[in-house]
Amino acid sequence: MKRKAKRPDKYLLYQHAVQSPEVHVDWMLSAWKDLRRSGPAPKLLREDFCGTYAISCEWVKRSSEHRAIGLDLDPEPLAWGLKHNWKKLDSSQRGRVDAREANVLNSTARGADLLFVGNFSFFIFKERAQLLNYFRIARSSLSSRGLFMLEMAGGPGMIAPLRERKTVRIEDGKSLKKFQYIWHQKKFDPISHDALYAIHFKLEDGSRLDDAFVYDWRLWSIPEVKDLLLEAGFSDAVVYWEKTQRGEGTGDYVRMLAGDNAYSWIAYVVGVK
Ligand SMILES: C[S@@+](CC[C@H](N)C(=O)[O-])C[C@H]1O[C@@H](n2cnc3c(N)ncnc32)[C@H](O)[C@@H]1O
Repeated sequence: MKRKAKRPDKYLLYQHAVQSPEVHVDWMLSAWKDLRRSGPAPKLLREDFCGTYAISCEWVKRSSEHRAIGLDLDPEPLAWGLKHNWKKLDSSQRGRVDAREANVLNSTARGADLLFVGNFSFFIFKERAQLLNYFRIARSSLSSRGLFMLEMAGGPGMIAPLRERKTVRIEDGKSLKKFQYIWHQKKFDPISHDALYAIHFKLEDGSRLDDAFVYDWRLWSIPEVKDLLLEAGFSDAVVYWEKTQRGEGTGDYVRMLAGDNAYSWIAYVVGVK
């Protein structure tokens, strides 16, 4: 009897190719220090659109006082996160992560010191009124000194039709040692800023996982997002932009009023309550 080939695990591939929860948590803590110079440290993180909630799991490792609530609509990544991220925590850490199948617009999870939105996930809201509504809800979900942190991407390099490939190596991979990650920019409409992206994977044996993840987004600009944060009642909206050295990004994000005209960029916009 012929054995059926095992379907590659798209969440495992995604986690290796795209995510770096340690880097994100380091950044959140440093931005908190920068914006809230005195007073108590942040304790409760809410991770909206959390998927496999890797960031929440990293957050609770950093202090026994840290708690995290992750929210996602889709039970599939949540179940993957339970099996692969949450199970790796010790029992105290496990007790401080609460991943919920919920819509970020309806959640009752309140009192967050940090509300983090990774991988541009709020781009799912295409209408101005929808995004404003979400920002209002986010603001009311924060503690009195809370910060709302939004990861954004942009530049001509996010608009051009392209397929960007990178080879990803897995150090401790047993059957899977390396694979190719393909970021595909399928469509962009300059009138609406609707943008369609997909992630494909190609494995060592030549098999492919096309459209493993598909994102139908609106590519919001930083000034639009800042304006909406202020309209939603945030007292300030600040931008952390990546420092460059000889034209290359350093991975260091600093608070800036103006950025360099990068071909493609990732930045963080923070709504200050
Ligand atoms: C781009 S993925 C990001 C996952 C994760 N934050 C990351 O960085 O890898 C977007 C996630 O948002 C979830 N999602 C979309 N709309 C949502 C909503 N209204 N409320 C909660 N989750 C939502 C999807 O199920 C998906 O898992």
